[in-house]
Amino acid sequence: MAPSRSRNVILPLLAAGLLPQSAWSFECKNIVAQGQQFNLEKLGGPHIVHWEQENTDLEALVKYNFTIDLCNALKWHKGGSSATECHHGARVCALREIIDLNSANSSMVTPIDIAGTYKTYNGREIDAKFELLRNSKSNSDASREGLRAELHGGRHPFEDKKEGIDQRAIIEFVCDTERTGLEGDEKDDGEHEEDPKDDDKKDDGKKEQKLRRREDDNGKCQDSKSSLRFCGYAKETPKKDSVVQTLRLEWRTKYACENVRDVPSDDKSSHWGFFGWFFIM
Ligand SMILES: *[C@@H]1O[C@H](CO)[C@@H](O)[C@H](O)[C@H]1NC(C)=O
Repeated sequence: MAPSRSRNVILPLLAAGLLPQSAWSFECKNIVAQGQQFNLEKLGGPHIVHWEQENTDLEALVKYNFTIDLCNALKWHKGGSSATECHHGARVCALREIIDLNSANSSMVTPIDIAGTYKTYNGREIDAKFELLRNSKSNSDASREGLRAELHGGRHPFEDKKEGIDQRAIIEFVCDTERTGLEGDEKDDGEHEEDPKDDDKKDDGKKEQKLRRREDDNGKCQDSKSSLRFCGYAKETPKKDSVVQTLRLEWRTKYACENVRDVPSDDKSSHWGFFGWFFIM
């Protein structure tokens, strides 16, 4: 018991010293958050989350499809164009559709780069940062197991240095031993906001306010059984004078549990490991 505890202390210290907290790019199967290692490889591939909101100023319905591939750059769809796809290198991409409520069939689709590494365009980087939920300064996280990823690089409009707004994605991977993380993936999108066609405008406004208030209150996420949930997309000011439009997602998965790698039968090797480390020290 004592040896394995020592090992648990020494390894993170070593890792924290040797590995950068902020990585330009990262490997999904070896993500290090403050000395703890996670393998999120199984969460790779494109996953979609939906959100819609009525904008009363524009008298429009704004629908978002957020696509995230944690492990690789998103691929364009067949026949896709820059009008409907994020720039090459994006790992988190929003497709925003603005539907004019005053004129039937009038809608405008805009891709929004949220995070990625754009070597061939403007060189913006994903600059991924990982931290443990329980080590974070914020509020109620102390009791939660998992990690938080912050991904950068996006901007909208992408090429607009002056008017563009920086984008980022903050994804909280929350340990849930019962979930792989793929429950309700993509197809089960029936849990998001009600279809506005079934409601009148006023009701929608109220709901929107309610949703917003809930988000402001304590960062509650969309009520959904899906493992990957939408929690917000709003302008934030992490630093004075810097506005960053932030997509917040929650991903409940066993791969965010710290002991998911622990195989009970390797007692001997962990002892050996301790003596190995001891020897080195
Ligand atoms: C968003 O996703 C939905 C459901 O997958 C799809 O029907 C819709 O066409 C998508 N919107 C855009 C703008 O691609």
